[in-house]
Order: sequence, then structure tokens, then C-alpha cells
Amino acid sequence: MQILLLGSGGREHALAWKIAQSPLLDKLYIAPGNAGTSTCGENVPLGVNDFDGIRKFVLDNGVDMLLVGPEDPLVKGIHDFFLADPLLCKIPVIGPVAKAALLEGSKDFAKQFMVRHGIPTAAYKTFEASGIDDGLAFIRSLAPPYVLKADGLAAGKGVIICPDEESAIKEFTAMLRDARFGQASAKVVVEEFLSGIECSAFVITDGISFLVLPEAKDYKKIGEGDTGPNTGGMGSVSPVPFADATFLGKVEERIIKPTINGLLQEKIDYRGFIFFGLMNVKGDPYVIEYNCRMGDPETESVIPRIKNDFVELLQAVAEQKLADHRIITDARTCATVMLVSKGYPDAYEKGRPVKLEEPMEGSLVFHAGTIIKEGEVVTNGGRVIAVTSLGASMDEALAATYRNVGKIEFQGRYFRKDIGFDL
Ligand code: AMP
Ligand code: GLY
Repeated sequence: MQILLLGSGGREHALAWKIAQSPLLDKLYIAPGNAGTSTCGENVPLGVNDFDGIRKFVLDNGVDMLLVGPEDPLVKGIHDFFLADPLLCKIPVIGPVAKAALLEGSKDFAKQFMVRHGIPTAAYKTFEASGIDDGLAFIRSLAPPYVLKADGLAAGKGVIICPDEESAIKEFTAMLRDARFGQASAKVVVEEFLSGIECSAFVITDGISFLVLPEAKDYKKIGEGDTGPNTGGMGSVSPVPFADATFLGKVEERIIKPTINGLLQEKIDYRGFIFFGLMNVKGDPYVIEYNCRMGDPETESVIPRIKNDFVELLQAVAEQKLADHRIITDARTCATVMLVSKGYPDAYEKGRPVKLEEPMEGSLVFHAGTIIKEGEVVTNGGRVIAVTSLGASMDEALAATYRNVGKIEFQGRYFRKDIGFDL
């Protein structure tokens, strides 16, 4: 079996690492990949949104399956593009069609879907520019803090939490009237603030049945103690101690099952991963967001805990035979710390040589923003490398990770020293 994996982050390196272990695999291609993925398969210099280039590559190289890492090509309809093409339509795509990817691509669509199917989520209203005055009145009717969300994809920056009414009114107006997030904020969701602790649940689904993958918690803020601006994610752990069997049972009954059944009822054929961003409010789960893909850096802590042959699972999704499988989980804890470039999540420099030893005793090294230039690994992104370790306890896993983080060097390296601090 020949698989093409789209993406270039730590998530894709973790997926590539796992897929490369399958006896069912003949060849793995990663487009565009990074310095790390090139050790698991062959990197292909194609952008994830270059549908015509991907089409040609798949047909020229006899690719049997497409696995899509990031949301962008899914929301742009890569799965639909394959289905509509007489030569590509028989090649399975793991990742939902555009209509289903709207669960991530449109916050308003996701909220309406949750309301239709009785899935617990924060109370909300959606506004367009023509309804600014109604929106302002709605904001005034709520208690602070205020949660404003650009409807469309905004590179993870579209959610603004405002501490007071004045800033909420200013931000709301900037989003709708001044197109602060471009077309993505042509609609704005204003929602009730949920107070609690966050974690993420993941499922893989073939559109009929689903398997729950290990849950995880990520650390989104750049600064220690969860301070400063949001990033793509600075670290993650799995399992999550407060997500006990009772809580996870509620997540499955109140959130996962109604979501899968809702998709079925609405005749939305969903094949791929669903990522549920959750808030635990006094023991009850609420959905903060859906994503139509795996999380990054959650994947780096989730994948090493899955003992199954991953290609077998992907094939089961394609053949709608997931009901015949179950997930075999490693009971150990996995902890990931992300090393980032100085300046991230704002402007940062690229091209810094990376010094590291691979393989690394006691840890896995998943590359994110790296590239090979003249035979040398150099930085090529804000998030550069994830170090991941399994341990008998969270303390052990974190200790191994932090021991090894110090062995990776590049100019301007920064990482959070407190991953897991709140658990
Ligand atoms: P998102 O981009 O949807 O992941 O949202 C970014 C972050 O905003 C989330 O991880 C939460 O920390 C926070 N957030 C989003 N919605 C709410 C809400 N209704 N109540 C409290 N925090 C929220
Ligand atoms: N780590 C959050 C995300 O992947 O969206």
C-alpha cells in the first residue's frame, strides 16, 4: 500500500512515524513534510492546497490512499476534488468532505449543528455586519468576560476573550466592520464564557461507527502559567488525569455519539478524525470547538499511546469496517514539549542550524518547523521540534522529556518549563 500524507508539522511527523511501522505499508510519501518526516518516507515538494499537483503525483506514482493532516485542504474540498475526478474517485481520502469540514471551517455552522443535536455547548448568537446594533445589545446583556469568535478559519487567532464590555464592543466592531480577520470575520459568534478546565477528545470515524482515541490536553499560551498570546500549542499530555472514566463516559454519551449520529442523520459522510475541544465545567463536558483533523501537539502525545497497526485503522475507515476494530491503548503517560523559535507566535527568524542527536535515548523527537538545507537540519517555522516521552507516571514522562529537551540546540530556542503544571 502506498500512502500520501499531506502536511508538514509535528502532527504529520508523528503520523508518519506511526504509519512507517506498519507491515501493510509499501511506501509513504509526505507533502511537503519536514526534515523529520524524511526519515519515515519520501518528502514531496508539493503544497497541501496544490490540488492539481497532488492529483498528478497520486496518478503518476500509484498512490493508494490520501491522508490529510491539516484543516485547510479539507475545508477547501480536497476530498470532494478526489470524489469528483473519474481517475481519483476510487482512491480513499482520510479526512472529511468540505461540508463536514465546516464543523471546523464555520463556527456558526458548528454551533447550529450542536443546537440541532442537543450537544452541550455555550449559549451564543451569530451576527453579520448588518446586525451590529443587535450584536452590541447582545453583548451588553451578557456578563464578562466576553467570547468573540470569527466564523471562518483565522489561523487559530480568530477567538478573542475580552475582560470587559468596552473591549468587547471595540473588538466586535473591528471584526465585523473593519474585517479584522478578513472574510473569516464576516460573521461573528458571540458566546457565553465557560469556566472550567480544558481537554481534547479524538475519534476516528468511517461515517457509521467510531473509535475513541486517547484524550489529551494541550498548552496553548506562549508563557508559563498559561500567560501571554495563544500559539498553535506549546506542549501536551495524555492521558489527562481529571478526564476519568465518569467524565469520558459523559463525553461519549452526550457529545461523541450525538455528533456521529447527527452527521449520519444529516447525510454528511464523515471519514476521518474529529477533534472535540472540551471544557470540563464542574464535571460536565461542553464543546468549545470541533476540528476536522487531529490536534498539534496533541497528536504527538496521542499517537505513541496507540498500539494498533495504524494503516489497518485507516484502511478500515476507507472500507467502513471500523466496527470490527478496537483501540489498544498503552496505559503509560505521554508528555510532549514544543521547542519554538524566539519571537513566536509573532515574527521569528528561520534558517537557524539545529543541533540534535537522533535517535534520542528515552524520547521521541518529532520535527515541526525544520527543513534540510545543504545537508543540515535548520529551523523553518515557529514551532520547531517536539520532544515526546512515555513514562509510568506523568512526572516520569515529563522528566524524560525535559532531560532531553536540553540536548536540542538552536539559536533563539524557547520552550515552556511548566507543561503539566496544572495537573
Ligand atoms: P479555539 O480557537 O476555538 O480553540 O478557542 C481558543 C481558546 O479560547 C480555547 O482553547 C479556550 O481556551 C477559549 N475559549 C473558546 N470558547 C470559550 C468559551 N465559550 N468559554 C471560555 N473559553 C473559551
Ligand atoms: N493544538 C490545538 C490544535 O491543534 O488546534
